[in-house]
Amino acid sequence: MQVDIELLKEFERGLDPAHPETSRIPARVLGYGEISTIFEIQTESTKNLACKRMPIFKTKEEIAQYEILYTDYNELLSKELGINIPEWGFASFISEAGNIIAFDIQRKLNSESIGNRAIHTLNTEGVRTLFMLVLRELTRVWEFNLANPDRALGIDGQISNWAIDGFDASRPQLSAGSRLLYFDTSTPLMKKNGLERLDPELFLRSAPSFLVWLIRWLFLEGVMTRYYDARLVTIDLIANFYKEQRPELVPGLVQAANEFYAAEGASLGIKPITEKEVKAYYKEDAMIWVLFLAFRRFDRWLHRYILRKPYIYILPGYIKR
Ligand SMILES: Nc1ncnc2c1ncn2[C@@H]1O[C@H](COP(=O)(O)OP(=O)(O)OP(=O)(O)O)[C@@H](O)[C@H]1O
Ligand SMILES: [Mg+2]
Repeated sequence: MQVDIELLKEFERGLDPAHPETSRIPARVLGYGEISTIFEIQTESTKNLACKRMPIFKTKEEIAQYEILYTDYNELLSKELGINIPEWGFASFISEAGNIIAFDIQRKLNSESIGNRAIHTLNTEGVRTLFMLVLRELTRVWEFNLANPDRALGIDGQISNWAIDGFDASRPQLSAGSRLLYFDTSTPLMKKNGLERLDPELFLRSAPSFLVWLIRWLFLEGVMTRYYDARLVTIDLIANFYKEQRPELVPGLVQAANEFYAAEGASLGIKPITEKEVKAYYKEDAMIWVLFLAFRRFDRWLHRYILRKPYIYILPGYIKR
């Protein structure tokens, strides 16, 4: 996918990370990632794109390496595993302010078709079908990993990372034949010769410097490795329904997952999941991210009022959990 790099540079020039909505080139935030912000930049050539801005790179070498991983990950998912992903592209440059900026580009998907929105328009049966379709797509990853442990890949199966192709929210319907798209490809977790290719330190960049040691020690290991673990990814996916304010669906989804792993996914050998486990996992996970965000806000405050240095990251507002 081709992108107009001059336009992205122009966008970057007029962007105020504290108020992205009021940039010189108008833009709308489509979503916030832990390390990225996803924009719809409102010009003729970009209005149908989702532009994921990643301000975390320090050198050209790092960005070149990331581009290779991002490309490999997209190709592995779509060509070898047969998981559908939206059309994609990549752009990077050095901004006027001297920051190295990368944009992962994707075709913009209809926001109502994205999992965390769709679960509010679908009925219980529809949500269950969506959930089963996600488990089926994820199984492609686990089977690939079993067959190719040396070049295994990690995936973030969260409901907010999938979109239902051709979904119409005014007639919310899903069938076993509906097609899903996976779009959270900005964290290309992949192994080569059994070793992680993605530098975990990149994830620490947006963390406050005074916390890096703590985060490294506390949970980097856990956060990276859980994306390779079929059972944990499934628990994480179910736990999303607490975050997305549909806790009443959790018991049914636990049951559905256990049925799936006893039948279609039996070869994966996943031991049954309990609701208690999902709840405990959610509590811990929510706490980690709430704390992390609170510290980042504090860091932003430090930059503004004490250090008087620019703060380049864009932080989400209040998140209901
Ligand atoms: N191609 C797209 N079209 C429309 N909306 C998108 C697209 N990509 C991302 N979004 C929106 O932005 C949100 C976050 O995107 P994404 O899942 O890629 O980031 P993330 O999970 O927070 O990633 P990371 O932690 O890797 O930075 C999505 O849930 C979705 O609402
Ligand atoms: Mg995501």
